[in-house]
Amino acid sequence: MRDVAIVAVGMTPFGELWQSSLRDLFVQAAREALDTVGCPRPDSIFVGNMSGGQFVGQEHLGPLMADHLGYAGVPATRVESACASGGAALRAAYFEVGAGGSDLALVVGVEKMNDGADVTDVLATAADQETEVYHGITFPGLYAMIARAHMETYGTTEGDLAVVSVKNHRHGAMNPKAQFRREVTLEDVMTSSMVADPLRLLHCSPVSDGAAAVLVCPLERAREFTEKPVKLRGSGMATAPMALADRADPAFLDAVSLAACRAYEASGIGPSDLHVAEVHDCFAIAELCVLEALCIAPRGEAAELTRAGETTHGGRIPINTSGGLKSKGHPVGATGVAQVIEIVEQLRGEAGNRQVMGATIGLTQNMGGSGASSVIHVFERV
Ligand code: COA
Repeated sequence: MRDVAIVAVGMTPFGELWQSSLRDLFVQAAREALDTVGCPRPDSIFVGNMSGGQFVGQEHLGPLMADHLGYAGVPATRVESACASGGAALRAAYFEVGAGGSDLALVVGVEKMNDGADVTDVLATAADQETEVYHGITFPGLYAMIARAHMETYGTTEGDLAVVSVKNHRHGAMNPKAQFRREVTLEDVMTSSMVADPLRLLHCSPVSDGAAAVLVCPLERAREFTEKPVKLRGSGMATAPMALADRADPAFLDAVSLAACRAYEASGIGPSDLHVAEVHDCFAIAELCVLEALCIAPRGEAAELTRAGETTHGGRIPINTSGGLKSKGHPVGATGVAQVIEIVEQLRGEAGNRQVMGATIGLTQNMGGSGASSVIHVFERV
């Protein structure tokens, strides 16, 4: 397989974007990425999207988006893995370009959640309908059960969860594209309204609109487009039982662990080599579980690592410098691609006041549902 690089990025702000439709968001992000490298015509387009059909009544996104971008004729496919759709779309492009099927692939993650649909119901389609959703569970409810399991096994506290939210809001306050550009205190988090015990409003990612785009090409051609290509060193994906009740340990994310092993093996990079990572903090507890599954923290010790400031900007391994899903926002299909953009900007030294000094190796971890699928990519500055 050929080496593959990211050569351009583009992203809309994330938030409640009432003036923009699903296709507007797609075109805005894609155009920004293409314009920065002289508007080349892509050989293929991959659209990461969880549920255009249910959020805005629009399926068949491949041809629609290719047409609205001015590239009718180009092969274009939607890739879906719930909230991991963006990461899965990048993975499809990685193998398409690596295998020689395309020389330039455009990957765009996009979601329009604020358009009248019952968001909680649509998101719940990514859980097990027969054993979970029919009984009334929601996504905040599922992650609340994961949080309770983690608390019972490791003694994690509500305060530990709040530290994650405070950190990610502090990072997001420095990100001009974040949905919430404001800091919050521990007290703000601990007194925010209860959503699903023990998860409060400020432990949750919000409902968001947005799109994020990257251009992928063979490493050997990358300098035709940019002086600062970022090599995609490896990709790993895995699945786990969909229903929490079917998992051996609900406090441990097997799909993340397995995907991480595969990504580490494919890239030759281990957790101790990482300088920065974007992980899927759809709820504060998710960030702690993911850090343990990635072996960035030993099992049960992610809260301590976070409390010690090791995962904050300036710490040993800054996590979610973009603000994460918590503060930057979580337009579900776009999230996996937006994570990649933060890491690309960090490795290029273009992350502004969020810059992690000297970062050359980074990781993205994107997750579907309550952890039934996960996609992980490892990147290196060339
Ligand atoms: N974090 C911080 N502030 C938030 C927020 C969040 N997650 N969600 C909403 N807010 C703010 C709003 O900006 C608004 O502030 P304002 O009054 O100053 O304008 C206020 O809280 C109320 O917003 P509203 O939209 O009415 O909130 P809600 O109660 O309808 O929804 C949640 C809150 C947490 C239930 C909703 O954001 C949610 O479902 N999040 C989880 C999404 C999810 O499951 N994603 C998939 C993960 S797998």
